[in-house]
Amino acid sequence: MLALDGPSGAGKGTIGQICAVKFGWHYLDSGAIYRGLGWLAGNQGVSFDNVSSLVVLADSMNLTCHVCETDSAKIEINGHMVTDELRTDEAGQTASRIAPIPEVRAALLNMQRRCRIAPGLVADGRDMGTIVFPDALYKVFLTASAEIRAQRRFDQLKAKGFDVNLARLLESIQARDVRDSNRDASPLKPAEDALILDTSELTIDEVVTRILALVN
Ligand code: DC
Repeated sequence: MLALDGPSGAGKGTIGQICAVKFGWHYLDSGAIYRGLGWLAGNQGVSFDNVSSLVVLADSMNLTCHVCETDSAKIEINGHMVTDELRTDEAGQTASRIAPIPEVRAALLNMQRRCRIAPGLVADGRDMGTIVFPDALYKVFLTASAEIRAQRRFDQLKAKGFDVNLARLLESIQARDVRDSNRDASPLKPAEDALILDTSELTIDEVVTRILALVN
């Protein structure tokens, strides 16, 4: 099991899926779970103050993550493909606002743990190595400067035809870093036994090679 944590735009999705394919393991995009719950809540008019209804929604959410080695994972919720809806910057911000609610995190914990099936799992997120899978054999924390992460997000969203603004994305990433790192429930931080990799100056291949060296 490989727990791959880090801030938004550090490359977890791309690297995680490549590693999952190379190892022949399953892949969990845990951010999609928080994005998905935010999307469901918006669709059904459930306010973020209504914690008990959010928990009911979380319990009823059936999310499947289809690996796509050349793009973001394809996400299916309750039978609907919602990849594009979940990939927007707004969906990321919404997820980051729902994620600090302890009852929501508790409701989503078992769903994530159930993904750990043979022959193995690559799980990406913020608390994979610290809270969800603390006994993971391999833990990597990917990071990069906020400017580089914003530029990567910009290129990714632009390529998909979204209308994006680099300065606004940088602000959004910085706001999300602060919110994700400073919350009480499962804050974004490296596990004590994680390998920390700054990907600012590394290519995707170089990052994958370092992770393969760790796992092999
Ligand atoms: O990885 P991502 O950008 O798709 O995540 C969206 C938000 O979801 C992120 O800003 C915080 C939240 N999240 C979380 O709290 N815990 C996780 N394991 C994954 C994501």
